Amino acid sequence: MVDFHTHLLPGIDDGAKNVEDSVSLLNSLSELGMKEIVLSPHYYPAQERISDFTMRRKQSCEIFAKVLSERNKPTPRLHVACEVYLEPILFNNEDLSPLTVDLGEKFMLTELLYEEDFTNTTESMLRQLVYSYNVVPILAHIDRYPFLMKEKILYNLLEMGCVAQINVSSLSNFFKRKKLLKYLEKGYIGVIGSDTHNKNYINETRIGLSHLRPKDIEYVTDVSKGILNKVKGDSDDFVMEILVD
Ligand SMILES: [Fe+2]
Repeated sequence: MVDFHTHLLPGIDDGAKNVEDSVSLLNSLSELGMKEIVLSPHYYPAQERISDFTMRRKQSCEIFAKVLSERNKPTPRLHVACEVYLEPILFNNEDLSPLTVDLGEKFMLTELLYEEDFTNTTESMLRQLVYSYNVVPILAHIDRYPFLMKEKILYNLLEMGCVAQINVSSLSNFFKRKKLLKYLEKGYIGVIGSDTHNKNYINETRIGLSHLRPKDIEYVTDVSKGILNKVKGDSDDFVMEILVD
């Protein structure tokens, strides 16, 4: 399986506090069956320049990579990305590629404004990403936004080219589960994630995973690998791709 959304990088956001935390969370996700993991620390455009963020991210990756390279244990394949909070100031930047997983096509994990309804501002920002920046938005944890759980809105965003991500822990909620399993059935959900910030997330993820059907896992793994474009190779190898200068 591929965990497309985690906060495992040490000391960079409200996720893993230090590299010991990072390693322990990584081990737990590996035990849950995650063979590939996307590292997606928060990026808040109003708080920090992209270049400052990517510098901090690079330093954090280096600390993590050093510890992992010294241990004698199989490690899931790791990919470096981020979770971008989508706010208008982001679009003052001409180049958003440092914030994307850029493997031919640019994919960006996007956290939307937490509003009751799907506003024109949010829609217009997603449109800009797709049509002006050629970026494919991966809508982070759609299960957390009541408006993204509405089929019509979600369907229109998928038509626009977005990909939907769910936090598997939401499957432990009876009412959300019903809807999310239906959306998985319809192929609306492209990727799954644990959104792991700390050890409390691990058990919730374990429960959520128990509700996934084999065909769901197969589908989201295929989509994830298609995006990451890195199916070949031995997953026991440690690979961290620092997609920044
Ligand atoms: Fe997150």
